[in-house]
Amino acid sequence: MNATTASLAPLKIGSPEHKDLLCSFFVETHDPYKPAELKWPPLGDVAAERLRALPIWEEAVRTEAETALAVLTMGAAEKDPVLSNAITLQGFEEQRHADILRLLTEKYGIPVPKFAPAAPVDPNWAFMRIGYGECFDSFFAFGLFALARDSGFFPPSLVELFEPIMQEEGRHIIFHVNWVAYNQARLPYAGRPGYVFKRGLAMWLQALSRLKTAMRIKGTAEQDNFTMNAHAQFGDISPREFVELCLRENEKRLAPYDPRLLRPEFVPAIARAILPTLPRGGSN
Ligand SMILES: [Fe+2]
Ligand SMILES: [Fe+2]
Repeated sequence: MNATTASLAPLKIGSPEHKDLLCSFFVETHDPYKPAELKWPPLGDVAAERLRALPIWEEAVRTEAETALAVLTMGAAEKDPVLSNAITLQGFEEQRHADILRLLTEKYGIPVPKFAPAAPVDPNWAFMRIGYGECFDSFFAFGLFALARDSGFFPPSLVELFEPIMQEEGRHIIFHVNWVAYNQARLPYAGRPGYVFKRGLAMWLQALSRLKTAMRIKGTAEQDNFTMNAHAQFGDISPREFVELCLRENEKRLAPYDPRLLRPEFVPAIARAILPTLPRGGSN
């Protein structure tokens, strides 16, 4: 964003200008780094053990690989060449996330089973669900990343390698909310209730899947949940402080992009609503 874009007239959601901005913002802010060129720092015994003890690796590798294939499939299925190009670039970025996680687990000796994702049957539906899933996950991941970075729990040289992934997820969720709004606005009035229902269902199913994961993990106590409990791994912070941190980090991550584009509102709104009910101070 610059002073000129900030002073432009508001964007009409669903207009050709909205589509162009949604795609150009995404393509122009792409970071062309290469996972193979990342310099993995040597870790001391304590840091290596902490890293191995995080119960997230298998799920993270699987999720990123599945997401990459689904987003690339959607990019290939999208008829509009401008949208297709931006979505395919997002798929490329997701594949990089999968590659980075794979490199990390190999480098630090974290066992993760081999996994071959399957392409979705309905790429549009899969892409919509992925987007809502990322809106949930990124909100908490931004806060967790800040904790990992600022607590000194891991060496800064390691944490820094994940900075581009965090920022990319911020771009992905901005793309998602604008893509959904663009498609909805382009429908004839008669088609909109169906689309709104589909949106709501996608969001609900993603919320439900997070809740199920949390319940399963709580029940077995064998694994931790990256998005809901992992903050406890990084230090003494209350649930309320953690959610406040997530809100601040969310704002910072999304701030650099064109203010005319929509931002994810749902998860931050829920977080603000539940904030007063959360315990303050001490560890949870
Ligand atoms: Fe990702
Ligand atoms: Fe993503």
